[in-house]
Amino acid sequence: STHRIAVIAGDGIGREVMPEGLRVLAAAADRFDLDLQFTTIDWANCDYYLQHGEMMPADWFEQLKGFDALYFGAAGWPDKVPDHISLWGSLLKFRRGFDQYVNLRPVRLMPGVPCPLANRKVGDIDFYVVRENTEGEYSAVGGRMFEGTERETVVQESIFTRKGVDRILKYAFDLAQRRPKKHLTSATKSNGMAISMPYWDERVEAMAASYPEVRCDKYHIDILCARFVLSPERFDVVVASNLFGDILSDLGPACAGTIGIAPSANLNPERDFPSLFEPVHGSAPDIYGRNIANPIGMIWSGAMMLDFLGQGDAAHGAAHDAILRAIERVLVDGPLTPDMGGAASTSDVGLAIVDAL
Ligand code: NAI
Ligand code: MG
Repeated sequence: STHRIAVIAGDGIGREVMPEGLRVLAAAADRFDLDLQFTTIDWANCDYYLQHGEMMPADWFEQLKGFDALYFGAAGWPDKVPDHISLWGSLLKFRRGFDQYVNLRPVRLMPGVPCPLANRKVGDIDFYVVRENTEGEYSAVGGRMFEGTERETVVQESIFTRKGVDRILKYAFDLAQRRPKKHLTSATKSNGMAISMPYWDERVEAMAASYPEVRCDKYHIDILCARFVLSPERFDVVVASNLFGDILSDLGPACAGTIGIAPSANLNPERDFPSLFEPVHGSAPDIYGRNIANPIGMIWSGAMMLDFLGQGDAAHGAAHDAILRAIERVLVDGPLTPDMGGAASTSDVGLAIVDAL
């Protein structure tokens, strides 16, 4: 079947890595006989904002809701537009509007990538961070009182709903159930956040009862961060609220090497709306315009997109695996961009991955 994909390059190096992602997807479609139809979207970037005063047109939802997936580069250009405007005006609208309640990030030590932690080899670090993406600590409920006085007070509420908590836990338990280790770790802080986190823990326990094969444990977020750094090999699937998951899903890839190769997916598992696939990194204004950005995070995100679109179909699964093998080959044999110690350009790496494919 045809997959309709909206291509949203965004800002900065998003525009440099996107062509390489599309190059690899086109090659994979060719080789595995997949029907991918791409539509370029030229808004959701800071230049559009400077012209229109908004990151996106008013009918963005109508324009995008019929796509099967959004393939997204990066948004943000802090010199032109404050980050809270560019991100809340684009990416966060997609996540919430399209109910992409799962933020999924693989954390994997890849061949050829120097691990910042000592004595780790390929295979040692291989887990997923599953972050709740629509509620929790990131809410707009609260406000300021007594502004400008000595009593100035600021309140920011967290929101945890049974539906919101249970659906992210179910996704994480299902994922753990499908993996060989069948191990789920929950991030909590019930000793400090004495209302919301005991509730989270309670829902984890309730969900665990339906997954007797999954081994389940929990850690407070502070010690969990320490364990990511000290013993990442212990993890398999880690599930966390919005704030804790945000932190863990940057820390995890950092423990496994460069940020330039880490992929992510924002999923609406029910497929009522398009899901969004994007590299973990941002728009990197410090290196934009030199054609040296590492395109692997964008390319790996494209592989995740094929896997999700295929829903278990063999050709899509094979295309995903083949792209990962091609990435691994290039990580070992080169060419590599400067962030990985090489001297190659963004397009050199994209072309080499197509060759390996
Ligand atoms: P960043 O990820 O853009 O850059 C952090 C550092 O990593 C920089 O030194 C950059 O050169 C390097 N880097 C990032 N991606 C790379 C790649 N593919 N190849 C080689 N080096 C790479 O994060 P930063 O600087 O905090 O944010 C810059 C802008 O991006 C801000 O406007 C921020 O809000 C936005 N941003 C957007 C995200 C998104 O769209 N999902 C995610 C993170 C940041
Ligand atoms: Mg983050």
